[in-house]
Amino acid sequence: MKFNFQFKEYSPKTEEVYGTILTLGNGHIGIRGEIELEPTVYGTTVAGIYDYAPYFYREIVNAPRVIGLGMMFNGEPLNLSTHKLLKYERELDIEDGTLKTWIELETNKGARVSYESLRIVHGKRKNVVVLKFKFKADKKGLLTLINPIDVDVANPSYRPEILVKHCYAEELDFGEDFIYAGVKTIDGKYTLGIASSLITDKEANRSVVKSVKGIAEVLSIEVEADRVYEFVKYIVISSERDSALKDETLKELGEVKELGFEKLFAEHREYWSEIWKKAKVEIEGDEEAEKGLNFSLFHLIQSLPRDNNISLTARGIHGFGYRGHVFWDTEIYALPFFIAVFPEDAKRMLMYRYRNLEAAKENAKLNGYKGAQFPWESADDGYEATPPLVPLDMAGREVVRIYTGEEEHHITADIAYTVDLYYKFTNDEDFMAKYGLEIIFETARFWASRVEFDEKKGYVIKKVIGPDEYHEHVDNSFFTNLMAKHNLLLGVAYYKKALNKGGYWKKTVDRVKVTEEEVLKWREIAEKMYLPPQVDGVFEEFDGYFALQDYTVDPHGIGEARLPEEIRKKIGKTRLIKQADVIAAQYLLKDQFDIDTIKRNFDYYIVRTTHASSLSMPAYSIVASWLGYGDLAYEYFMKCAYIDLKNLYGNTHDGFHLATAGGVWQTLFRGFCGIDITEDGISINPHLPSKWKAVKFGFSFRGRWLEIRVTPKEVIVKSDEGKEVIKLSIAGKEVSLRPNEKIVVPL
Ligand code: BGC
Repeated sequence: MKFNFQFKEYSPKTEEVYGTILTLGNGHIGIRGEIELEPTVYGTTVAGIYDYAPYFYREIVNAPRVIGLGMMFNGEPLNLSTHKLLKYERELDIEDGTLKTWIELETNKGARVSYESLRIVHGKRKNVVVLKFKFKADKKGLLTLINPIDVDVANPSYRPEILVKHCYAEELDFGEDFIYAGVKTIDGKYTLGIASSLITDKEANRSVVKSVKGIAEVLSIEVEADRVYEFVKYIVISSERDSALKDETLKELGEVKELGFEKLFAEHREYWSEIWKKAKVEIEGDEEAEKGLNFSLFHLIQSLPRDNNISLTARGIHGFGYRGHVFWDTEIYALPFFIAVFPEDAKRMLMYRYRNLEAAKENAKLNGYKGAQFPWESADDGYEATPPLVPLDMAGREVVRIYTGEEEHHITADIAYTVDLYYKFTNDEDFMAKYGLEIIFETARFWASRVEFDEKKGYVIKKVIGPDEYHEHVDNSFFTNLMAKHNLLLGVAYYKKALNKGGYWKKTVDRVKVTEEEVLKWREIAEKMYLPPQVDGVFEEFDGYFALQDYTVDPHGIGEARLPEEIRKKIGKTRLIKQADVIAAQYLLKDQFDIDTIKRNFDYYIVRTTHASSLSMPAYSIVASWLGYGDLAYEYFMKCAYIDLKNLYGNTHDGFHLATAGGVWQTLFRGFCGIDITEDGISINPHLPSKWKAVKFGFSFRGRWLEIRVTPKEVIVKSDEGKEVIKLSIAGKEVSLRPNEKIVVPL
């Protein structure tokens, strides 16, 4: 695989978009792709570092900018916009995880200078960032290099003009070969140790400048004409909460400098090569699809935190979008990829939810419910982080009221759904017995307290927001009620399983104090859970939806901008929906519907969906595949695979659309390859796009690594070693896959 993505256009506007799509990260640190030579508001993202923020409760901190580099040649600052730009080229290599830059300038004084750099955010050493660069000029003269740790950073608030400062330097220090900043968040909860060093093998004059902006080392070098000079900038950012933070950070800086660039780079390449051995998807006959899909996976993988202090956020380590909060995007759209390909990593993200179970219980209590209610938006502490209102103007006079935090309750069932999915894929007994069960029981408890009994309808759930966020305060959202019912039934099934298994499973039942009586009630509620009725096979999205003004849209368009203003203004009073809702339920709980019902619902809702949320098209694409709507499935898949490369939603600068990235993989797995994990095995029913000659990828199933290749004519599945036989159902044929075996099933 050789996937390079080149970009050659320079302007402040494109830089903002490149900032996101050229982001490098290792789950712990995120460095956006803006060029190091120009100033930008974007500093560094350190996963899990949050601070209190007006309106947004807690937000990811824009930590000090470390990648910046100041350059002056013969007294002229080398900024891109103030000289004649002869060459601007950037290249992201997703195979190696590198960002390369080539710049050539003709300065106002007439010197021709070239600059070339290679950036890595180290894959194996989570605290390490390295920038290697070269400089050449066609005249001799004085080159001045400024290597700063810029602590003068802040987060743009509800308007970009309003900046909120989240950290300050407690200590600025330097030695012969380092600069150091000890940085604390304003609320005092987190500390960062940041050290850097700029190395050159030429004789240089070094001085250090401290100011309110931070600390910088300045190197001055007399350079000869037409000679290439090489430099390496090492950075270590540590967030370990330990009293010896400074010593540890400087020690690590010493170690990486000692190792040197080449060895660090070799380690980094090895890291990515190991990742791609598992994650790579090969598509024969469609290079564009292959590139877009692997590009999405690259950004998804880079964003996955290294510990369970935080989970995967909506816009990753790539930007400030959604304030670094965690949504249902993670469990429903992004995690299935990790569950299948990197199950240990997926487990950590579920452990983040487990770690916040107490906060979820408090949340339920505060709202008058029992059990655990997970927040719609979650930050580092697991409490509700959705802003109840956001101002629109500078003075804060005009505000938008946001109800999702109060009403979008389905996230609680979504998390339980994914805990079960993880177990189905992995058979991870230990996780399930100790943590997963408790999540399922406490969430079932929540729903049992959330429902109300209606004499005519049975159990109802009032005043919610479903995935379609255009309609607020609705009763009996199809998605919410169905997922709640599923959550209750999971509670019943896992309770029985736990009693059968005994041991740790039973201990958890006792510890969580789940009783037979309680479980019987869960079953009764699930059985009598009200679901909005069907009209011509179509489920009403919520009570009263069919009575709203009808309006249809072209299924090939995206967003609300295409709607007439009068419709946009009263969108909640129409049948238009923001994203897959009834269809999202059918994609998650496919087994509960026959294909004719799915088709009727799809045909109805697809022309009433604006896709204003980037989560919409993946779900529709998957279901379109099942229904044989191949062209539409492929069109949505390609839009999703290029969502940020083409800045399709116009907001790529806010960060990468990670739910969509995970959705792209699910489109391949569940849609095109038609793979479902069942109680006793795997079922495969492919619907490949017509262009595709073959697709090949791997995934892990209950401790075994499987490689699958699908062509229009056959399905080949290969297993590594293991013990048990895996039952497969391929296009309706039942087959058994033994360890170290390869089977070929014609289609
Ligand atoms: C979508 C939600 C999503 C959130 C974060 C919203 O626009 O409607 O479903 O969770 O964005 O991505």
